[in-house]
Amino acid sequence: TYVVTDNCIKCKYTDCVEVCPVECFYEGPNFLVIHPDECIDCDECVEACPANAIFNEDDLPEDKTHFLALNEELAQIWPQICDQKDPLPDADKWDGVEGKLEHLDK
Ligand code: SF4
Ligand code: F3S
Repeated sequence: TYVVTDNCIKCKYTDCVEVCPVECFYEGPNFLVIHPDECIDCDECVEACPANAIFNEDDLPEDKTHFLALNEELAQIWPQICDQKDPLPDADKWDGVEGKLEHLDK
């Protein structure tokens, strides 16, 4: 499966939603997650994300491995998102900021 990681937080560009063939993204207030049982490993979303926030689970950097469980957990709770929308207002300002997990709204 593929995994959305911390750099999506407070950016939420949603270009990933537009390219996903199976609509397996789920949306929270300031972050998106992928449902691990629905992702078909097509790889399209990796290049599409302007924040480079999406990884194949096998390529997850060591400090981001906990995002796999977080995606699984939140995909059960949050609503599905099927259409691209505007990024969050300060997306470009937050792109690349370290330690964004503390800003995650659930
Ligand atoms: Fe969707 Fe493909 Fe990304 Fe999986 S790898 S979330 S199927 S775009
Ligand atoms: Fe987030 Fe990147 Fe999608 S910032 S909403 S994973 S395009």
